[in-house]
Amino acid sequence: MKVDVLLGLQWGDEGKGKIVDVLAPLYDVVARFQGGPNAGHTLEFDGIKHVLHQIPSGIFRPKTKNIIGNGVVLDPIVFKTEIEKLAKYNLDVKSNLFISKKATLIIPTHRLLDQAYEKAKGENKIGSTLKGIGPSYQDKIGRQGLRVGDILSADFSQKFKKLTDIHFEILKKHDISFNWPELEGAFWEAVTFLKQFSLVDSEYLVNHELKKGSTILAEGAQGSLLDIDFGSYPFVTSSNTVTAGACTGLGVAPSRIGEVFGIFKAYSTRVGSGPFPTELVGEEGEKLRKEGNEFGSTTGRPRRCGWIDLPSLKYSIMINGVTQLLMMKADVLSIFSEIKVCTKYQLSNGTITEEMPYEVVSEKIVPIYETLKGWNVPLTNLTEKQMPSELLEYIFFLEKELGVPITIISTGPDRSQTVRRAVKVS
Ligand code: GDP
Ligand code: IMO
Ligand code: MG
Repeated sequence: MKVDVLLGLQWGDEGKGKIVDVLAPLYDVVARFQGGPNAGHTLEFDGIKHVLHQIPSGIFRPKTKNIIGNGVVLDPIVFKTEIEKLAKYNLDVKSNLFISKKATLIIPTHRLLDQAYEKAKGENKIGSTLKGIGPSYQDKIGRQGLRVGDILSADFSQKFKKLTDIHFEILKKHDISFNWPELEGAFWEAVTFLKQFSLVDSEYLVNHELKKGSTILAEGAQGSLLDIDFGSYPFVTSSNTVTAGACTGLGVAPSRIGEVFGIFKAYSTRVGSGPFPTELVGEEGEKLRKEGNEFGSTTGRPRRCGWIDLPSLKYSIMINGVTQLLMMKADVLSIFSEIKVCTKYQLSNGTITEEMPYEVVSEKIVPIYETLKGWNVPLTNLTEKQMPSELLEYIFFLEKELGVPITIISTGPDRSQTVRRAVKVS
């Protein structure tokens, strides 16, 4: 068997949570492989909206095992709150959730450091979610991080003290106020809580499941344009959000990757700083934000909005080896009588390109658009047969440009508002 991967092709918030929940009944296992509480994945069904941050989006499907893989950075405090929020839904979370002992811990000082570093950057701040993602991955790469498995060791409190002392030395140089006894108290409570869960060598679990013939879906967080290597550095997150991240973040061999579902909005959004060539800053952007309810699921910040950007999508498709495309929020574009599609970029030296240049961060890129007719009709409860011809034209245009079939069209936040056009799973 193979591991299918679902990941965002833009700057995050493409609708990954919704689609993982929709596809989860087809999978025995859903696994997160990178990121942490910076993610906010929204699922909607039975009139209830759920936002998950660290827990995989297969958690509402009773037959699905959920794994938090070694590539994830886990904040025990956020984890405890998330689990407590789920309590009223009577899910068997303790039996259905497995956490890698090799996942890196986010401790309270990581969040403080995140704040300190952002403050020090001033105008050049990344726009981080301030969940401690960068500092915890820094410690992992610097080989001084703490891992989930460490909480089981007798000397964990000494290890914790050693690391927090290092952090306090750095924090001394920054003007950040905090109440340490309160933060530390919440951490230890959350650590005790975390110990009740199955802490495992998840790379064995994943590979045993594969051997058994189980189907596995790896759930990406953030988006490919926020990838630490391929995103608009330094305005990125601190993990590999691309398909290769699923291999290192779960312990799966590259030859075991099956379908790669690339998910994108029918337009573009970005939250936080960094380049956004097709951004609409005026009234049209505001209209899109309002219609799409584009406010961050984790921080509530307004998302920047703009037209779809094909050079960046082509780049993401190439890096990820996308085999199927999933187009989200088609309903939001119903308000426009004309829809623009950026097909090329013009660089400051006049060069016209369909590629994503290194200079995307340092220079102003001018998008070159083609204009398509809008469909201007509501798409709620749409079936494949009822698709307006203009929407079909939009889909065909994108498929031709991107060279990959679009197998799901999403027309609303609910599970049911999903049109499937021949989805294939491994
Ligand atoms: P994720 O981080 O990729 O899981 O995406 P988020 O949950 O952060 O953001 C996607 C937002 O769009 C959520 O509020 C979803 O409920 C909503 N959503 C998902 N699909 C659709 C859709 O097809 N149409 C509309 N209007 N909203 C959608
Ligand atoms: P999901 O999984 C959208 C953005 C932040 C910031 C940059 C770095 O819900 O799609 P970090 O907290 O990682 O240091 O922030 O990345 N960012 C996201 N944007 N969706 C996300 O996750 C994001 N996670 C981080 O806004 O610009
Ligand atoms: Mg999100």
